[in-house]
Amino acid sequence: MKELLIEKAREASALAHAPYSNFQVGAALLAESGEIFTGGNVECSSYGGTICAERSALCSAVAAGKKRFRMIAVYTDTETPTPPCGICRQLLNDFSPEMTVVSACRSEKVLEHRLADLLPEAFSSENLE
Ligand code: THU
Repeated sequence: MKELLIEKAREASALAHAPYSNFQVGAALLAESGEIFTGGNVECSSYGGTICAERSALCSAVAAGKKRFRMIAVYTDTETPTPPCGICRQLLNDFSPEMTVVSACRSEKVLEHRLADLLPEAFSSENLE
Protein backbone atom coordinates (compact mmCIF):
# COMPACT_ATOMS: atom_id res chain seq x y z
CA MET A 1 0.00 0.00 0.00
CA LYS A 2 2.87 2.35 0.78
CA GLU A 3 4.26 1.99 -2.75
CA LEU A 4 0.83 2.60 -4.27
CA LEU A 5 0.39 5.76 -2.20
CA ILE A 6 3.81 7.02 -3.27
CA GLU A 7 2.91 6.41 -6.91
CA LYS A 8 -0.41 8.27 -6.47
CA ALA A 9 1.44 11.14 -4.79
CA ARG A 10 3.91 11.23 -7.69
CA GLU A 11 1.03 11.46 -10.17
CA ALA A 12 -0.60 14.21 -8.10
CA SER A 13 2.64 16.21 -8.06
CA ALA A 14 2.43 16.46 -11.86
CA LEU A 15 -0.96 18.17 -11.47
CA ALA A 16 0.18 20.68 -8.86
CA HIS A 17 -0.22 24.39 -9.59
CA ALA A 18 3.10 25.90 -8.56
CA PRO A 19 3.92 28.70 -11.04
CA TYR A 20 5.69 30.85 -8.41
CA SER A 21 8.00 28.38 -6.67
CA ASN A 22 8.10 25.75 -9.44
CA PHE A 23 8.21 23.31 -6.51
CA GLN A 24 5.56 20.74 -7.39
CA VAL A 25 4.36 18.61 -4.47
CA GLY A 26 1.89 15.73 -4.55
CA ALA A 27 0.15 13.97 -1.69
CA ALA A 28 -1.93 10.80 -1.43
CA LEU A 29 -3.98 10.21 1.69
CA LEU A 30 -5.27 6.77 2.66
CA ALA A 31 -8.58 6.90 4.54
CA GLU A 32 -9.58 4.21 7.04
CA SER A 33 -12.19 3.19 4.47
CA GLY A 34 -9.39 2.22 2.09
CA GLU A 35 -10.11 5.08 -0.30
CA ILE A 36 -7.22 7.23 -1.51
CA PHE A 37 -7.49 11.00 -1.91
CA THR A 38 -4.87 12.99 -3.75
CA GLY A 39 -3.89 16.62 -4.05
CA GLY A 40 -1.14 18.89 -5.27
CA ASN A 41 -0.02 22.24 -3.95
CA VAL A 42 -2.10 25.13 -5.29
CA GLU A 43 -0.18 28.39 -5.25
CA CYS A 44 -1.78 31.82 -5.06
CA SER A 45 -0.59 35.12 -6.60
CA SER A 46 -0.99 36.47 -3.06
CA TYR A 47 1.58 33.96 -1.84
CA GLY A 48 0.15 33.48 1.66
CA GLY A 49 -3.00 32.02 0.11
CA THR A 50 -1.09 28.98 -1.11
CA ILE A 51 -2.37 25.55 -0.11
CA CYS A 52 0.11 22.70 0.33
CA ALA A 53 -0.41 19.33 -1.32
CA GLU A 54 -1.12 17.63 2.01
CA ARG A 55 -3.95 20.02 2.89
CA SER A 56 -5.26 19.85 -0.65
CA ALA A 57 -5.58 16.05 -0.33
CA LEU A 58 -7.09 16.38 3.15
CA CYS A 59 -9.74 18.85 1.99
CA SER A 60 -10.66 16.52 -0.84
CA ALA A 61 -11.10 13.67 1.65
CA VAL A 62 -13.16 15.73 4.08
CA ALA A 63 -15.36 16.92 1.21
CA ALA A 64 -16.07 13.24 0.55
CA GLY A 65 -17.00 12.67 4.20
CA LYS A 66 -13.75 10.97 5.32
CA LYS A 67 -12.20 12.04 8.62
CA ARG A 68 -10.02 9.12 9.73
CA PHE A 69 -6.76 8.32 7.99
CA ARG A 70 -4.07 5.63 8.07
CA MET A 71 -1.27 7.04 5.98
CA ILE A 72 -0.20 9.94 3.80
CA ALA A 73 2.52 9.90 1.15
CA VAL A 74 4.21 13.06 -0.09
CA TYR A 75 6.21 13.14 -3.31
CA THR A 76 8.60 15.72 -4.73
CA ASP A 77 10.88 15.41 -7.75
CA THR A 78 13.93 16.15 -5.63
CA GLU A 79 17.03 14.31 -4.44
CA THR A 80 15.86 14.37 -0.82
CA PRO A 81 12.34 13.75 0.50
CA THR A 82 10.14 16.68 1.57
CA PRO A 83 8.61 16.48 5.05
CA PRO A 84 5.22 18.16 5.63
CA CYS A 85 5.30 21.77 6.82
CA GLY A 86 4.11 22.73 10.29
CA ILE A 87 0.67 23.90 9.21
CA CYS A 88 0.02 20.62 7.41
CA ARG A 89 1.25 18.61 10.40
CA GLN A 90 -1.22 20.46 12.59
CA LEU A 91 -4.21 20.02 10.30
CA LEU A 92 -3.49 16.33 9.69
CA ASN A 93 -2.96 15.84 13.44
CA ASP A 94 -6.42 17.27 14.11
CA PHE A 95 -7.81 14.26 12.27
CA SER A 96 -5.49 11.27 12.84
CA PRO A 97 -2.37 11.70 15.00
CA GLU A 98 -1.52 8.01 14.61
CA MET A 99 -1.29 8.08 10.83
CA THR A 100 1.98 7.21 9.11
CA VAL A 101 3.66 9.99 7.14
CA VAL A 102 5.87 8.89 4.25
CA SER A 103 7.91 11.28 2.11
CA ALA A 104 9.45 10.03 -1.12
CA CYS A 105 11.38 11.59 -3.96
CA ARG A 106 13.17 10.65 -7.17
CA SER A 107 16.06 9.07 -5.25
CA GLU A 108 15.82 6.02 -3.00
CA LYS A 109 15.67 8.17 0.13
CA VAL A 110 12.42 7.85 2.07
CA LEU A 111 11.26 9.38 5.35
CA GLU A 112 8.69 7.55 7.46
CA HIS A 113 7.26 8.68 10.78
CA ARG A 114 4.18 8.47 12.95
CA LEU A 115 2.51 11.88 12.66
CA ALA A 116 2.37 12.35 16.44
CA ASP A 117 6.17 12.01 16.53
CA LEU A 118 6.45 14.89 14.06
CA LEU A 119 4.34 17.11 16.29
CA PRO A 120 5.20 16.47 19.95
CA GLU A 121 3.04 18.10 22.63
CA ALA A 122 0.62 19.09 19.89
CA PHE A 123 -2.15 21.61 20.29
CA SER A 124 -5.53 19.97 19.69
CA SER A 125 -9.25 20.43 20.18
CA GLU A 126 -8.73 19.16 23.76
CA ASN A 127 -7.00 22.46 24.54
CA LEU A 128 -10.08 24.44 23.55
CA GLU A 129 -12.05 25.07 26.71
N1 THU B 1 4.65 22.67 -0.08
C1 THU B 1 3.78 21.62 -0.04
O1 THU B 1 2.85 21.53 -0.84
N2 THU B 1 3.97 20.68 0.92
C2 THU B 1 5.02 20.64 1.78
O2 THU B 1 5.12 19.73 2.57
C3 THU B 1 6.03 21.69 1.74
C4 THU B 1 5.72 22.85 0.88
C5 THU B 1 4.48 23.66 -1.13
C6 THU B 1 4.00 25.02 -0.72
C7 THU B 1 4.52 25.87 -1.86
O3 THU B 1 3.60 25.82 -2.92
C8 THU B 1 5.79 25.19 -2.29
O4 THU B 1 5.73 23.86 -1.77
C9 THU B 1 7.07 25.84 -1.81
O5 THU B 1 7.04 26.07 -0.44
